[in-house]
Amino acid sequence: MNAVLIGFMGCGKTTVGRIVSQYLKWNFIDTDDLIVEKTKISISDIFKRYGEAYFRQLESQIIKDISDVDRCIISLGGGAVLNEQNINTLKGKGLVFYLKGSPETIIAHIGDNKDRPLLHTSNPYNTIKELLNKRHPLYVKNSHYSIDIDGKDPETIAHEIINILKGAERRK
Ligand code: S3P
Repeated sequence: MNAVLIGFMGCGKTTVGRIVSQYLKWNFIDTDDLIVEKTKISISDIFKRYGEAYFRQLESQIIKDISDVDRCIISLGGGAVLNEQNINTLKGKGLVFYLKGSPETIIAHIGDNKDRPLLHTSNPYNTIKELLNKRHPLYVKNSHYSIDIDGKDPETIAHEIINILKGAERRK
């Protein structure tokens, strides 16, 4: 079994995923990191040089490449749900958790970090609201569990996920 973390940029998928993986002693995989490792180009530069469509191809390929892993925590980029095939590839072998945050929480987490090319706009807060409105239904539809993150620290969120995973392992 695996745990797949989905949700908007800045929801803490990587931070929470690392805590869960350390606690359960499962491996941690971050698809954005794998893309950077494979291409040796930063995410921002991939968008700048080759565009979003090319990034999405890389993302889908990486997800196919990892589809056979087991006992892993997999953190997906916030846009991975745009191609539902990505989630279907991973869903059969794991539980999918949607880290659900409000635009206020997300903007507070992201601050002035410039690593998110889709938020290089004149009003990142509005961009977050617009993109989140479009994506929220996809996150809900493609997850087994929604975990509210507003007002919680990463440890608390991680332990909610750990408890669900332990329960699921016991029922196996
Ligand atoms: C994206 C989210 C990013 C990264 C890329 C595109 C998105 O990952 O994959 O910038 O479309 O939401 P994080 O969610 O880990 O920031």
